[in-house]
Amino acid sequence: MASSSLAGKVRKQPISDMAAFRTVFQKSKHVVALTGAGISAESGIPTFRGAGGLWRKYNAQDLATPGAFLANPSLVWEFYSYRRDLVLSKKPNPAHHALAKAEAQLATEGRRLVVITQNIDELHRDAGTKNLLELHGTLFRTRCTKCGDIAENRASPICPALAGKGAPDPEVPDARIPEQDLPRCVKCAGLLRPHVVWFGESLDPDVLMAAQQELDQCDLCLVIGTSSVVYPAAMFAPAVADRGVPVAEFNIESTPGTENFGFHFEGFCGSTLPKALGV
Ligand SMILES: NC(=O)c1ccc[n+]([C@@H]2O[C@H](COP(=O)([O-])OP(=O)(O)OC[C@H]3O[C@@H](n4cnc5c(N)ncnc54)[C@H](O)[C@@H]3O)[C@@H](O)[C@H]2O)c1
Ligand SMILES: [Zn+2]
Repeated sequence: MASSSLAGKVRKQPISDMAAFRTVFQKSKHVVALTGAGISAESGIPTFRGAGGLWRKYNAQDLATPGAFLANPSLVWEFYSYRRDLVLSKKPNPAHHALAKAEAQLATEGRRLVVITQNIDELHRDAGTKNLLELHGTLFRTRCTKCGDIAENRASPICPALAGKGAPDPEVPDARIPEQDLPRCVKCAGLLRPHVVWFGESLDPDVLMAAQQELDQCDLCLVIGTSSVVYPAAMFAPAVADRGVPVAEFNIESTPGTENFGFHFEGFCGSTLPKALGV
């Protein structure tokens, strides 16, 4: 096993020995799984960074910002309307199911598995995960920009003006829907926005604190389908590794986090994760 020196620390190259991981997993009492867009890729939901990261001529990351919504709420709502409809047509894949099954199985043995996700697609819930922290909110909740009311909403279309809008092809003209025809609050008629955390916004402090507690207590951490460049996964897992807790990465490629982790399993997590968790 090769080792390298980084910032004065001796780091070992991660290993991809499934039997060694299984031994660690079987001994663990408190597992945290950090998941990102990659876990939903095999369900047919594109990640932001790979192919499919563009919507019309826009970079998805440029639309998921408060500035974009302020400048053009119609355009941002078209984008979210498209994403809601896309996700409504998709199902959890074997990686989501493996986490839900492992959680249930571990619970019967007095052990705990919790999922901390950056995803907003609710596929972990659909798969049956109960211990779930959604760091970035969900596509299926709205928040009023005027009174702050938060409401569940799975309607399609979310309002009549968005019916048939949001097509992703670059040649489709923007719908330019007047603000009064965009989704409105049932309580105060204020403009609604998706209840998701956009780039440049802070995470809900309660959710963040709950996530931090899980990470502080876990004795095994799984990092699944996240590029480890987006906060907070970027700092969560390396901090766990720094206190000597095993971290296992499941990704189709190496990431900037890989060298911090003990295990790295390269491949589609829909295949690698069920094997690793034995479900
Ligand atoms: N499904 C969703 O809810 C969704 C989709 C796109 C983006 N986002 C948001 O965008 C941000 C992007 O950050 P991110 O780091 O989660 O995603 P990302 O797009 O930056 O990275 C995705 C990672 O998943 C890996 N990956 C792709 N397919 C995989 C597979 N089948 N198995 C294992 N790994 C695979 C890629 O190599 C990459 O490292 C997040 O904040 C997230 O909220 C969410
Ligand atoms: Zn309101």
